Amino acid sequence: MTGLILALALGGCDFFPETPGATGDSGLRATGDCDPAVMVPYGTTGEPDDVIPADPHSPVFGSDQPDPTAVRLGFPSRDPSTSVSMLWRTDVDTLSSVVEIGPAEGFPQGATTVEGYTFLFGGGEVGEGAYRIHEVRLCGSLSPATTYSYRVGGEGHWSPTYSFSTPGAPGSFDTFRVAFAGDSRGDYATWTRVVSAMQTHAPDLVVFSGDMVELGANQSEWDEWFAASGDLLATTPFFASHGNHEFLAQHYFAQFGFPGTEEWYAVEWGDLLLLSLNDTVRSQEDLASVQKAFIEQELAATGRPWRVATHHQPAYSSCTAHDSNLEVREAWSPAWEEGGVQLVVAGHNHIYERSVPVKAGEEVPEGDGTVYIVSGGAGAPLYESTDDAWWNAVANPIEHYIIGDFGPKQADFVVRDLDGNVIDQFSVPR
Ligand SMILES: [Fe+2]
Repeated sequence: MTGLILALALGGCDFFPETPGATGDSGLRATGDCDPAVMVPYGTTGEPDDVIPADPHSPVFGSDQPDPTAVRLGFPSRDPSTSVSMLWRTDVDTLSSVVEIGPAEGFPQGATTVEGYTFLFGGGEVGEGAYRIHEVRLCGSLSPATTYSYRVGGEGHWSPTYSFSTPGAPGSFDTFRVAFAGDSRGDYATWTRVVSAMQTHAPDLVVFSGDMVELGANQSEWDEWFAASGDLLATTPFFASHGNHEFLAQHYFAQFGFPGTEEWYAVEWGDLLLLSLNDTVRSQEDLASVQKAFIEQELAATGRPWRVATHHQPAYSSCTAHDSNLEVREAWSPAWEEGGVQLVVAGHNHIYERSVPVKAGEEVPEGDGTVYIVSGGAGAPLYESTDDAWWNAVANPIEHYIIGDFGPKQADFVVRDLDGNVIDQFSVPR
């Protein structure tokens, strides 16, 4: 029943149409919250609310740089167990937007070719973009808990072959490992170190709490950031939140593929509900009303025992660079705490912080409240100054990342600096 209500809420009534572009006897299907067609963010007017259809694949290659770069996975649906997309860059003249994908064992034997879409963004004139993005969406056509291999581009111009694994279906139990990090802005050599360190733990997914780059409209920084990310984004599902330094720029929405509005979204990873929220909004209504209702509705409808939220500006922080964001705390904390969210991970303050369990503005026993994490140590300049605060369990201005192992009874977290030293360990009961 819950699934039906959720499906209706998502407006999905045309379930399982054929996926355009699929060739061969693949049985590819589309699910209701995954649209195989790609829209261009900030389409004809350069305004955020304007979107236009992207162009379909055409077997055309440019002469400058037709080979794919910055290949990454995207998520056109809240269900990454069956739906995924691939995005990449080429020169502006290349229109070929093809993915070849199949079971990892024996690839490319048994692989299917799927055609997608392409669009320009950036540059000085609307519609005269300097950068070309390709995106191919596979809606509902993957199998849960399966490892796939794929390559992108087109005949004669294929990318390297990458592999990734889908999670179990929403609601299915599995143990899984999540890496958390945030605030890489301005120091992409450090981001490379964070990526390499995270990859040694082979996380199933990575959650990033915002501020990837210093200036979201500066494409050269994005180019640095993607290059510094190595093959992480092509091989490991990566779910970001929009930070204030992304500035709601077209570059963010054009180059990533997230479900829903992309500004805020829900993902179901087995028995985890992950809510990614945006606290740098066009209107305070989006924070205090729209996303508050989104959080409340998601948590009321879900049957997932694990509930994690991520966003950028922390509701609870003892770091005096920015302090706590009281608007976020007032709008979202009651919904998280009443809705059984075990962990909220933010950034913005360039430090590692962990709170005691909190509910209704007070410390509560373990398991009764929400633990608030600030993880803003992936390259941005560290902030040293902290206040004593009643909620604070740990505060450490250090570059770091977090590995969380989610199991049947509890989730165990280990926080490490970039030399591999453990700087915090804690568990959260389910
Ligand atoms: Fe920030």
